[in-house]
Amino acid sequence: MQNQYISENKARFLDELFEILRIPSISADKQFAGEVRKTAEFVKEKLIAAGAENVTLEETNGNPIVYGDKLIDPKLPTILVYGHYDVQPSVPDELWTTPPFEPTVRDGKIYARGACDDKGQMYMHIKAFETMIQTNSLACNVKFMIEGEEEVGSTNLGIYVMQHKEKLSADVVLISDTGMIANDIPSIDVGLRGLSYVEVEVTGPNRDLHSGVYGGAVANPINVLCTMIASMHDENRKITIPGFYDDVNDLNEADRKALNSAPFNLEAYKKDLDIDEVMGESSYTTLERTGIRPTFEVNGIWGGYIGEGAKTVLPSKAYAKISMRLIPNQKSAAIIKLFSDHFISIAPKGVKVKVIPHHGGEAAITPTDSISFKAAAKAIATTYGKAPIPTFGGGSIPIVALFEKELGVKTVLMGFGLDSDAIHSPNEHFGLFNYYKGIETIPYFYKFYAQMMAE
Ligand code: BES
Ligand code: MN
Ligand code: MN
Repeated sequence: MQNQYISENKARFLDELFEILRIPSISADKQFAGEVRKTAEFVKEKLIAAGAENVTLEETNGNPIVYGDKLIDPKLPTILVYGHYDVQPSVPDELWTTPPFEPTVRDGKIYARGACDDKGQMYMHIKAFETMIQTNSLACNVKFMIEGEEEVGSTNLGIYVMQHKEKLSADVVLISDTGMIANDIPSIDVGLRGLSYVEVEVTGPNRDLHSGVYGGAVANPINVLCTMIASMHDENRKITIPGFYDDVNDLNEADRKALNSAPFNLEAYKKDLDIDEVMGESSYTTLERTGIRPTFEVNGIWGGYIGEGAKTVLPSKAYAKISMRLIPNQKSAAIIKLFSDHFISIAPKGVKVKVIPHHGGEAAITPTDSISFKAAAKAIATTYGKAPIPTFGGGSIPIVALFEKELGVKTVLMGFGLDSDAIHSPNEHFGLFNYYKGIETIPYFYKFYAQMMAE
């Protein structure tokens, strides 16, 4: 009956997703604040139309949170569905085959910024909910919390959660904002890494100088910044910040073995990225490097003259944006402090260094022996015909650790994207197969979760 409802409404489900994909809800850029709000209004309207109650835009110091619920029976378990309607910047736009906010289907995939991360996956939940309401099969109470600042660190959501513990109380948090290995190799992420994001500014002389008149005699902040950044890894690509690994526990051999038994083809990985070799911390596999090891990455670096042609200039300033991925036990605020102290300490005389913290978040592990994991695994096994493999996705969803800490609720990461969906990149896409499979699978989670909780 549910599948019939989904297939009868297939076209409309896609039209609606296209509508929301057309709104450029880029949270990183204040210019888009109006569009971000429009997107929140859209989600609100669609939640109401699907049958949710108490639907409101919860105002914050930033972008609004959309809340809505359907509480049918206090004896049934309650699922808190979390997702985000904001997206990453689309730049560089010229690398998109079709414009980022004009969704287009090619080869069975929807191309648009946010198609997978996370509008497509978030919207599956609203359509799955509509399906359960329309087919009279809603098996759990449900609360929706869809935010607009995930891509900028969820700071305001964190405050909101701490202030609304009662309202948000639930038995489990359900999130579709991660990926699977492949459509014929279903998997469930069981770990998210934490994050410390900082910006650094190196200042040399008080103004841009002629690079011939002054060059060679005055510290060039770009040269200095590059040297400083290069020193952050040693020859084994270990991070050199003193104390950085103090709270890092190595996995035991059995867990390492399990992690490395997930299907992974290094040759295909390299081929997909067009690289002749991978690079990372020695003595760890690629799956370990992206799943359970901390990292230090420059996300952007700039300064001086970057316009057309050549300009001989010794710049006054250089900048970089840096992210460090963290594993459970490392604390985001403590790592920012370690980095900041170290970075300032290695600056040579002749420059001034400023470290500006952006946002942070803690890592999270979701248990595989929980009822919620088992229900998700059974739901996926039902619709994919194969039990999902536990995996470590490597990305971060800062609110997950906070849900656990503040609400005492564990999360299940039932993601339907693929690594190859190019999230955060040009030509982000989401398979039509994945979109409809998600809508089909989610109601089974509700059903099995209610059944298993009652046992
Ligand atoms: N959906 C991603 C997180 C993700 C992607 C987890 C794939 C696992 C696999 C999320 O929207 C995201 O991009 N988070 C940011 C963190 C945020 C604080 C900017 C990230 O991981 O960079
Ligand atoms: Mn996301
Ligand atoms: Mn993202």
